Amino acid sequence: MTYSHVSVLNKEALEYWVHDEEGIYVDATVGGGGHSFQLLSQFPHVHLIAIDQDPIAINAAKERLIAFSSRVTWVHANFRDMAEEIEPSLRTHIAGILFDLGVSSPQFDDPTRGFTYQVDSALDMRMDPANPVTAFRLINMRSKEEIARVLREWGEERWAQRIAEFIIKARTQEPIRTTGQLVELIKAAIPASARRTGAHPARRTFQALRIWVNDELAALSQGLEAAQGLIAPKGRVVVISFHSLEDRIAKHVFRQWEQEHKGHVLTKHPLTPSEPEISENPRSRSAKLRVFEQF
Ligand SMILES: C[S@@+](CC[C@H](N)C(=O)[O-])C[C@H]1O[C@@H](n2cnc3c(N)ncnc32)[C@H](O)[C@@H]1O
Repeated sequence: MTYSHVSVLNKEALEYWVHDEEGIYVDATVGGGGHSFQLLSQFPHVHLIAIDQDPIAINAAKERLIAFSSRVTWVHANFRDMAEEIEPSLRTHIAGILFDLGVSSPQFDDPTRGFTYQVDSALDMRMDPANPVTAFRLINMRSKEEIARVLREWGEERWAQRIAEFIIKARTQEPIRTTGQLVELIKAAIPASARRTGAHPARRTFQALRIWVNDELAALSQGLEAAQGLIAPKGRVVVISFHSLEDRIAKHVFRQWEQEHKGHVLTKHPLTPSEPEISENPRSRSAKLRVFEQF
């Protein structure tokens, strides 16, 4: 399978990320290596620290960036641990850190990984295959209250309680093993009248589960704190988010740093993709870019 992911807000991200043409940069979510490819090809004197928690993404990015390999340091880790994972000699003088959040298109499209409700596969959803927590485990082992709360808070799903009830009832017969089984339960739980309009009925539940499996919101808060501790004066933290929960975290954390006089926010309003970018790459529709600059 080719690893093809179209980078979002490419030009804008690069403009903010790079301000020192000889600096050390961190791509906290290297994915298919799209943003990093632009960085390394346009700036021949920068060094890149490329992080991803998914070994398949790391391998794909290694291939994509092979021409620049002498200028790349690879880190297979969760970005929440970047302060410890980046070797001490590189830890000082970091000029900019980019977070392009969420899953990549190849992760989403791989039918074996369970991220999508569009194909029937095992309930997995792990970005890091070494993570012991799978969607199967959460769906089959956690309490009704916990499942309902997660669907409500992280999926903003108004039928959270009913979906959780249907899950608990079904799993007393036999374990819920596949995304297809889960989709059927969600469809049964949401009244037909509410299903007629809008997005796929499983979209919110799948978003919530993915956040839960990968502990995405706590990882983001911790990753941002680690990033702020690593960047040099004038260094920048750039965040591209894809849903309101992530965007809210970036917005609040940046505002708090500003209040603590650590630096200032360069984006009064978040940057969003242009209409042409959205029509070329519909996945970019919900993207928001925010930037913080350290004093
Ligand atoms: C949207 S893709 C990045 C695409 C990349 N910017 C490009 O242009 O090709 C997000 C990547 O971040 C990784 N990721 C998400 N959360 C992470 C975390 N907490 N730590 C490390 N990697 C993470 C995913 O595995 C995925 O490969």
